[in-house]
Amino acid sequence: MQQYILALDQGTTSSRAILFDQKGHVVAQAQKEFTQIFPKPGWVEHDPLEIWSTQAGVAAEATVKAGQNGKSIAAIGITNQRETVVVWNRKTGKPVYNAIVWQDRRTAEYCDQLRAEGHEDFIRGKTGLVLDAYFSASKVRWILDNVAGARQQAEAGELAFGTVDSWLVWNFTQGELHVTDVSNASRTMLFNIHTLAWDDELLALFDIPRAMLPAVRQSSEVYGTTKTTLFASKIPIAGIAGDQQAALFGQQCTAPGMVKSTYGTGCFLLMNIGATPRASQHNLLTTIAWQIDGQVCYALEGSIFIAGAVVQWLRDNLGLVKTSAEIEQLAQQVSSTDGVYFVPAFAGLGAPYWDPYARGTLFGVSRATKAAHIARAALEAIAYQTMDVLRAMEADAGLTIAELRVDGGATVNELLMQFQADVLNAKVVRPKMAEATALGAAYLAGLAVGYWQNAAEIKALAQADSTYAPTADRASLDAGIAEWNRAVHALQVWAQ
Ligand code: G3P
Repeated sequence: MQQYILALDQGTTSSRAILFDQKGHVVAQAQKEFTQIFPKPGWVEHDPLEIWSTQAGVAAEATVKAGQNGKSIAAIGITNQRETVVVWNRKTGKPVYNAIVWQDRRTAEYCDQLRAEGHEDFIRGKTGLVLDAYFSASKVRWILDNVAGARQQAEAGELAFGTVDSWLVWNFTQGELHVTDVSNASRTMLFNIHTLAWDDELLALFDIPRAMLPAVRQSSEVYGTTKTTLFASKIPIAGIAGDQQAALFGQQCTAPGMVKSTYGTGCFLLMNIGATPRASQHNLLTTIAWQIDGQVCYALEGSIFIAGAVVQWLRDNLGLVKTSAEIEQLAQQVSSTDGVYFVPAFAGLGAPYWDPYARGTLFGVSRATKAAHIARAALEAIAYQTMDVLRAMEADAGLTIAELRVDGGATVNELLMQFQADVLNAKVVRPKMAEATALGAAYLAGLAVGYWQNAAEIKALAQADSTYAPTADRASLDAGIAEWNRAVHALQVWAQ
């Protein structure tokens, strides 16, 4: 029996690799941040070669740290920042343009045009997605329209398109495999979530040649084996899922009605809705959670574009703190924001508002406002945005959500977790294993190769760590919520 599963978590700001053992414990890990490229306001790019080199680097590093050379790895599971688009040349393996990142808003006007032409319901019906620049389709089109010669090459079958999972698998297999999984495909706006196939009408609408697209596979199956010399032996690549779906699986939200939120660059809430897709009436997305053994599981999702990134911004752009962890101490210097509200819509507003033209705004700043108030308002904003999405989910599902499972870097922030439970008026549960995204990818890969025999074996591994119950005074919380709503509304008016 081989000892480990290697999970690769290619996120928006860093590439990570984690080796898990059979108990789901972390044996070794490595992480590397990579360059964020902002060519213009609202544009966000990554260098695909840096994505690959950092991911390959941390994979090797984690393997070495575990004291072996890859021979004991039963399988690799890949999970990734979703929607981000890479287009590369099939012969040379070279990208034709930087990766256009999910946060990038350059195609907002094009999406407006599609809306004006009346395509919104058509797109939503097939894909479950809100017509927004967030998703891959308009970004691929932008590359084909703006990179010299790209369209002709794409039509001639010379170019490949992929989300980051496809790009990594391509590189790990040295160009042998061009695949993605259903969860990633469901974020492209080109994939029909009912028929589980690339959709010719959507391809025609976005003018994207089918020849560019990867083959779509399940989230848990052996796609092929590695060919790089990074590892001493060929390792099966056996799991792929978008990072938020992987976290849903890692948190073992496997029954309908279970909800998780991952606090990363953004915040993403997903609710398992079972085997039948259901359209949201409250501006949430219907998306594919995973496909295992032929069974598709769907989810409702609320995507918040900026969460942890607001702390990064306070650190890197304003220098209010030296490390992200210091934000909690700073926020604790004051007992309230003193009327300051921070809507961190740096990349527009996601669910449930969907306003690509909104931008980050501070409300209620006075001469008495200190850094601590702004820090606290930033943390509270993460919780308020989460509340907005959860309320939309409750309205869609027709039930009150009593428990939110949380994971991701910011969940170590006690002030944030307690405030989250307070504003939600619900239990917030953090598992012992906060790396739910990587763990989910490991589970998917491990199931495919029999490292874990079945779902029940995995379920038995989960352990809750801390539970935060609502404690604060309702009246003052409700007043804060009303002020938050007013701030969001004012920003939407400004953005018109
Ligand atoms: O949809 C974007 C999401 O997948 C990004 O996740 O963890 O990189 O912020 P993260």
